[in-house]
Amino acid sequence: MFSKRLDFAATPNALSKAKAKRLSANLPVLDLADANPASAGFGWSVAELGSFLRKEGLQRQEPDPRGLAVARGAIADYYSARGVRVSPDRLFLSASTSEGYSWLFKMLCDPGDEVLVPEPAYPLLEVLAALEGVALRPYRLTQLAGEWVIDPAQLKAGSRTKAIVCINPSNPTGAYVGRRDRDLLRAFALKHGLAILCDEVFLDYPGAGAAAAGTWADETQVALYVLSGLSKVAVAPQLKVGWIAVAGPANHALESCRRLEHIADAFLSVNTGAQLALPDLLRRAEPLRAAIRARVAQNESTLKDWVAASGHPCAVLPRPAGWMGILSLPPGVSEERLLLNALDEGIWAHPGYFYGMPATSGYLILSLLLDPTAFSDGLKGLDRALRRS
Ligand SMILES: Cc1ncc(COP(=O)(O)O)c(C=O)c1O
Repeated sequence: MFSKRLDFAATPNALSKAKAKRLSANLPVLDLADANPASAGFGWSVAELGSFLRKEGLQRQEPDPRGLAVARGAIADYYSARGVRVSPDRLFLSASTSEGYSWLFKMLCDPGDEVLVPEPAYPLLEVLAALEGVALRPYRLTQLAGEWVIDPAQLKAGSRTKAIVCINPSNPTGAYVGRRDRDLLRAFALKHGLAILCDEVFLDYPGAGAAAAGTWADETQVALYVLSGLSKVAVAPQLKVGWIAVAGPANHALESCRRLEHIADAFLSVNTGAQLALPDLLRRAEPLRAAIRARVAQNESTLKDWVAASGHPCAVLPRPAGWMGILSLPPGVSEERLLLNALDEGIWAHPGYFYGMPATSGYLILSLLLDPTAFSDGLKGLDRALRRS
């Protein structure tokens, strides 16, 4: 009776079973991977949100499949503040970046087609692709002098490959898609007739001293769609607004917009109140983003100090951008063993394999958003767990 799209329903592994057991016994778990800004105390006050959610938005709907002009104009301003002209006519609002991906998969792929995705990366696309009947083929990023870059030998397209995803900057590695990789991706996409999907949700969170690569929304040669949204850009995941910026050659962009309009019109999924609030949210988000960047930098330096003082042969990987810290584990320490021991201490984090980190070493992925005291306490528990692993 059921479609095969949901056949992937995963059986819980030893780690998720142990976590569930601890939670069901009402034992505390400090989640060192929690990247929800609200849990870390970042977000808008009710009064602020109330003043942005204009009353007229609650009274009537003026359906525009692309999203209200006032919201698209504010997104175009967001890009011009980053030095790139994006026409409001080439913008589509969706209910999240995730929904934007699903619309692009619908537009570009037939069931059974394939999309290339970077590895390591945040494990978001497996389910989104499966729901569209699309297969994913990973292409590995490698570390070259401390930087994550595309290994050209890893880029392979078959007759059913339709698109290639890149993440600028990536979660969890924080690596930007720099000039070298943009040239590589452009040439590869043009050669094989692929579209590029460029996810830029973490664009505004460069690490201190890192050279930020900037948005790729100004691409003119190859069909390219930039995805982003309020959840990270304006620290407002609860409002459920994302967008797609259509870039690339004019004819292709025009045809993309015509097709995307059909998809968006079928759902009209972004509520009017959130669309009307968007200009205020985008205009006023910078202090919140700055506070997050400062918190992330503070926890990152706590993590580095902890590594230096602990004597464990661990290392903190460079973080060009983003909210996550990556800890490489001492040789021979297994991610699963360590995390099971950490759970005994009431600590949870994400194993590197969850993101497809290279199997040559163990890694823990930690959220650097956490309250600094909770983060330090978590590291103490991790220290005890490491000594037992
Ligand atoms: C790289 C990346 N893209 C997209 C998303 C999802 O964004 P949204 O909340 O807009 O669906 C996430 C979530 O953390 C992410 O890490």
